[in-house]
Order: sequence, then C-alpha cells, then structure tokens
Amino acid sequence: MTEPISRWTAVETIGRGVKAAPALRIGFGLTLFLALVGAAGRVVVPITIQQAIDRGFRDGDVRVGIITTMAAIALGAVLLATWAQRTAVYRLGRRSEEALYGLRVRLFEHIHRLSLADHSEERKGALVARVTSDVETLAQFFQWGGLAWLLDGTLMLLVASVMLAYDWMLALVAFVVAAPLAFVLRKVQRHLVRAYDIARHRNAEVMTQLSEVVSGAETLRAYGAGPRYASKVKHASRERSDAFIKAGTIGAFLFPSGEVFNVLTVSAVVTVGVVRGPSSGLTAGAMVGFVFLTQRFLEPIAEFTEVLDQTQTAVAGMRRVLGVLEIPVGPPEPDVPQPLPAGPLSVTIDRVDFSYRSRSDTDEPPVLVGLSLHIPAGQQVAVIGETGSGKTTLGRLIARMADPTAGSIALGGVPLTRVGNAALRERLTVVPQEPFLFDGSIAANLLFARPGLQPADLEQAIERLDLREWLDNLPDGIDTEVGQRGTQLSAGERQLVALIRASLVDPAVLVLDEATSSVDALTEVRLSRALERLAAGRTTIAIAHRLSTAARAQRVLVLDHGLLVEDGTHDELLQRNGVYRRMYDAWVASTSASG
Ligand SMILES: Nc1ncnc2c1ncn2[C@@H]1O[C@H](COP(=O)(O)OP(=O)(O)O)[C@@H](O)[C@H]1O
Ligand SMILES: [Mg+2]
Repeated sequence: MTEPISRWTAVETIGRGVKAAPALRIGFGLTLFLALVGAAGRVVVPITIQQAIDRGFRDGDVRVGIITTMAAIALGAVLLATWAQRTAVYRLGRRSEEALYGLRVRLFEHIHRLSLADHSEERKGALVARVTSDVETLAQFFQWGGLAWLLDGTLMLLVASVMLAYDWMLALVAFVVAAPLAFVLRKVQRHLVRAYDIARHRNAEVMTQLSEVVSGAETLRAYGAGPRYASKVKHASRERSDAFIKAGTIGAFLFPSGEVFNVLTVSAVVTVGVVRGPSSGLTAGAMVGFVFLTQRFLEPIAEFTEVLDQTQTAVAGMRRVLGVLEIPVGPPEPDVPQPLPAGPLSVTIDRVDFSYRSRSDTDEPPVLVGLSLHIPAGQQVAVIGETGSGKTTLGRLIARMADPTAGSIALGGVPLTRVGNAALRERLTVVPQEPFLFDGSIAANLLFARPGLQPADLEQAIERLDLREWLDNLPDGIDTEVGQRGTQLSAGERQLVALIRASLVDPAVLVLDEATSSVDALTEVRLSRALERLAAGRTTIAIAHRLSTAARAQRVLVLDHGLLVEDGTHDELLQRNGVYRRMYDAWVASTSASG
C-alpha cells in the first residue's frame, strides 16, 4: 500500500494547510500588525538613544529636557511593544489551537469515513496514530516556530530597514559579516540535534536492557547468563554516556559561538564607521544607535536558524496530514437521496461480488462470489459458515460500510447507492461482533445512541428486551462503570448493552454479528431472549456462531468460501444432509459432550 504523501512544495503545502485549517486566517492581519507594532517599539529604543546623544549633548551643553523626553518615549515604546507582542502571541496561540482542533476533527472524521473495502481497521488505526503524531508536530511548531517567524521575522525585517535607512554602507557591512553566522549556527545546530537523537536512542537501549535483566532475572539465573548480560548492560551504559558527552560538547561549542559572531560583527561595524569618520555624516549618536541596532538584528538569528529545521519538520507533517485528507472516502453519498419506504424493509442482494481492494494485488479469490438472495421485510435470517467464509463481509455490505465490487444491494427496493447516509443509519443498525463501549456508565453508553432520550423510555427498552433483572444484579445497576472499551463487562454482556443500544434506534433492519468468544450459559440465555425480542417485527440478519440461534431463525443461509451453498429453514437444511447438517451435528455433539 502506497503512503498517501503528496508532492507539493513547501509553499504549496503551507497554502493548502491554511486552507485546510481556516481558523489560522481569521484575524491574521491584525495579529501581524500587532507583531509589527511590537517590533517597531523595540526599534524605537536605539533611535531614542541616537537622538539623546546627538541632540541632548550639544556644544558641551547637557539638555536634560531632550534626554528625559527621549527616555520617556523609549519607556512608552517598550511598554507598547510588550503589550502588542503579548497580544500577538495570545492571538496566534488561540487561533492555532482552534485550527489544530478543527484539523484533528476533520482528520478523524475523514479516516473514519474511509471505506473498509480499501482500508482495514488496522490500517485506519495506523493512520490515526500517524496523524496524531503529525498534528502534535504542528502543535509544537505553533508553540515555538510559528511565534519565532511572527516575532523574530517582523523584528529582523524592521531592524534591517532602519539600519539601511541610517547608513546603507554600514548596514551592508553588518549583513555580510553576520551571514556566515547563520550558516555556521545552522550546521552546528544540526549536529547537535543529531547527537541528541543518538544519545536518546542509546538511553532507550539501556532502559530496555535494564528492564529485561530485571524481569528476566529468573531465566538468566537458570542459564547462568547473568554475567554475560551484566557486561552487555555495562557496554550499553558506556555508549550512552559517551553519546551524551559528545552532544554536550557540541552544545558547549554552540553556546559561545553566537557571542563570538556578535563581537565580530559589532567590531566590523565600529571599525568601518570610525575609519569613515565624522566627515561621512555619521554622528556619534548614529554610531552608537547603529551598534544597538546591529545587536538587535543578531539576537534572533540563533533562534531563527533553529526554527528553520522545525519548520521543515512541520511542513513535512502538514504534507502527510494533507495527504491523508486527500485519500478518497467511500462510499459516496448520493446527490439526491431517494427516501426509503416506511415500515419494515426487505433486503435484496443481486449478483454481488466483493473483494477487499487492499488484497486485490494478491491472487486471493474474491470474498463473496455471485451472491443473490431476497430477504422479505420482517424475516429473521441466520447466516452461518466457517471462519473466513465472508459472513462479516456480507453484513458490512448490507450496512454499506463498503460497496460491492459488482452487483447491487437494495433496501425496501431502493438501491443502497441511492439511500442517504443519515436515512440509512436511522433505519439499519449493526451490532458488531465486538461492540465498542466507551469508558463510562452503561447508561451513558446507551444514551449515546439517542442523546435526548427520557429515562422512562430507556427503562421501557430494557423491559422490552427482558434485561431488567440482569441490570439490577450488576453492582451499580444501570450506572455500573464499564471501564475502558467496556472491559469490566464480559463479551456477552457487552453485546447485551449493544442490543439495548440498537433497540433505542428502533431500526427496520438489524444486522447482528454474534460474539465468537465463549459466553456463559446464563448470558447466552439472556442474549438469545433479548435478540428474539429485538428481532420481532424487523428484518434481521444474524451472523450466528451458536447454532441455537440458527435453529430458532426462520431461515438459514450457509456461506462457504464466499458462495451461498444452502438456503432454507432449519428443518429443510437438516433433511438435506449437507454442510448445515454436518455443522449442526458437530455442534450438538460438542455441546452434549461438554455437558
Ligand atoms: N478489512 C479487511 N481487509 C482485507 N481482508 C479482509 C478484511 N476483512 C476480512 N477480510 C478477509 O475476507 C475474508 C472473509 O472474512 P469475513 O467476512 O470476516 O469472514 P467471516 O466473518 O465469515 O469469518 C477472509 O479471508 C478475511 O481474511
Ligand atoms: Mg466474522
């Protein structure tokens, strides 16, 4: 499977990223303006120094008025700059959080909507994991890199313009001497990042080995391998500390190098300034102000060069995120949905073939082959067959989690491709093999299906499925916590909750995939009673793992390697002496053997 990474350039990626996260654009003009005000405020200080020197000390006089005025202006400018920058930072932070929130929601919805025909649940899980870490990268970028671009970028731009305005020749001297600074810093920073990556990696190795030695102590002792392992751990620890020392050395070099360049640049500026002398029109004040400006210009360079790497990582993350949003979602919703008839709905399957596209490059046979059948409205059907025969896939196609590769499926005579998604979810409910329960109470997991439901209606639904006594016997009744993924309940109990949840939707068609894991006898009785009551009056397709479910159904379908091999009532199929008969006899033998 190819990775969905797009080929856009950095600029294109940023453009598309802003489009995908429109919150970023809201009020950005004002944020940029505030950042400019902040930068301007900081540029004002060197200018006031120049003014104070050139106009405050003239002909041996000290003009206190001018000096205090300039000091007041500088103070005001600093306060204004601080306020403006703080506000810009706040605005950027807020908008980027909103943008990332929107992006996360869009990504998860998008991944959720990907057709199961192309993307298995595992692959979707992997996509979610990757996207989560990419969005995290973007979040980190906004917390630091985005701010640096905004604040340092505007500051450097303004300072450079003021320097050029003061004295373009000195400005050029400063830029030319500072340029290698950026270059060298970037090189050293890259080395540093790499060195710390290695150090972290070595650290993880030591941790793994240590925990292995501890948890595998008994095995090590039994084989007398303790000393060998001890020397392995010692070696790894040595490598770890070497790696950290190396990273530290590079870091130590990086720290003063900014200072060195600073001194070099300022000296160059001063030297050129002094050599040219006052005859060039450069006043003492302008010279001093210029030195301050040069330093202001150099300050953000170190941060900026570091931010460049972070920006590259963020752009790469954004590119992957956009690549995921580009994966086409299936199955498409019709432009003009056709309404489903009221009341019970029939299911018609017409010459359906199906292959999982993710497997089509292998020479595996299709999962379903030439499947045709009509299930009249209100009929209760059990589907049986060996593992891998295509039962779950059939359920997915009826629920339109994927479209058939060939042929068509209709609900109440309306082809599924013409049914709107909302209408489909209202009229057809799937109870999957492993129903998902959210961490919370049973009540919360039930109400999630119908948020506005009255407690009385919930009680009624429980009564209707005859589950009152089961619920009352749980530690906290309906308020019992199910734990993460519902692990506090047994697999059978999770299905009981899912059955109640499905009954709240009151669908015309019910697709149920029975749990394969063993269910204790009492829960099994409750499950089959609840299913019987839930199925009454609805078209029900129960993928049966317990043949007792098949025995009670009005009709049994037997799938074998994607083919419908038997179709009839329980009694008819028993008479036929075929696949069903063999499976049933084997099941009867196994249940009577186990008591
Ligand atoms: N999401 C998927 N992607 C690729 N292949 C799948 C997927 N789900 C099921 N299969 C394959 O399709 C075939 C039928 O599976 P399934 O419908 O789950 O059968 P059953 O429910 O009868 O055990 C199996 O060979 C299975 O490996
Ligand atoms: Mg299955």
